[in-house]
Amino acid sequence: MRVAVPRETAPGERRVALVPETVSKLRDAGFEIRVERGAGEAAGFLDSSYEDAGAELVDRGSLLAGADGVVRVASPSAHEAAALQSGTVLIGFLQPLTDADGVARLREHGVVAFAMESIPRITRAQPMDALSSQATVAGYKAVLLAADRVPKLFPMLMTAAGTIAPVRALVIGAGVAGLQAIATARRLGAVVSGFDVRPAVKEQVESLGAAFLDLGVRTEETEGGYARELTPEQQAQQQSALEERIPDFDVVITTAAVPGRPAPKLIPRSAVGGMRPGSVIVDVAAETGGNCELTIPGEVVEHELAGGGGVAIVGTTNLPSLMAFHASQLYSR
Ligand code: NAI
Repeated sequence: MRVAVPRETAPGERRVALVPETVSKLRDAGFEIRVERGAGEAAGFLDSSYEDAGAELVDRGSLLAGADGVVRVASPSAHEAAALQSGTVLIGFLQPLTDADGVARLREHGVVAFAMESIPRITRAQPMDALSSQATVAGYKAVLLAADRVPKLFPMLMTAAGTIAPVRALVIGAGVAGLQAIATARRLGAVVSGFDVRPAVKEQVESLGAAFLDLGVRTEETEGGYARELTPEQQAQQQSALEERIPDFDVVITTAAVPGRPAPKLIPRSAVGGMRPGSVIVDVAAETGGNCELTIPGEVVEHELAGGGGVAIVGTTNLPSLMAFHASQLYSR
């Protein structure tokens, strides 16, 4: 079977679907691997290492000829989808719940498509769960972005110049990304609180050494382990509870999501207005609209406070792509 690995074309996408380590495993299993020149470059995997692993390096024009399978990170563009032959097997993050046009295009071309998002979140499928591996990377990076911006040290320090208090961080949405954000913020020395609407999460938050912030809002888990969308009343209750609690925190990382739905709006403008100058919100949910009312996906907003100073709202999207080496390695495996 011939498998093709294109160079990703989505704006800002630095990851690659197969890394040399996986290429040689697939070669040993009898696959022929064709890699587009430069496909791994942005993630730190050079053409020469693909060649050493037994891949054939080709130009874009000849990549798909005779390919039985195509593996990629992001969905193909309309142009790329049109180049796929009928019967080709395609694997990637294809956004089956939110990109109906993209899915229809693949169907029209007779492509046999497997969306990584649709792999069930069950124990048996865990090694293939790329949503989790990429969310882990995103949660880690979100804390580093916050640490880089906040004008404070994360740990408590006792120095000859006196003691400084640790950063207080709040992580909202304690799924895979949120739990990694909690763990990373703790490793840097912050005092961390976490919140989620799924009651089962309290114990997980506490097991990482963080406090569970009780906002009095809960929802049941779906069969797949995901949160249900809150009712408008619950959402209003959550917003007002957060408005009261959020001024205590220097750093807020938000990761709340409901699959296939726009990100729930948790932090209203008024809550940001109550924060201390220099505080930072990193909105990991920016991709699907953001958890904060002021988030602009792909941008960093400096929100001016009425009393002077400001709060930064980081809406950087595709955080896994900023750690492209390990994100690609985990995805590829
Ligand atoms: P996700 O990315 O869909 O959502 C992130 C988090 O946001 C979730 O924890 C969700 O409860 C929370 N959330 C939704 N609405 C919220 C709101 N209004 N306020 C605060 N938080 C809100 O979820 P993710 O991280 O992809 O995984 C969710 C579930 O999948 C978890 O139960 C996890 O344990 C389970 N899972 C199971 C695996 C397995 O193999 N058994 C592997 C990976 C995840």
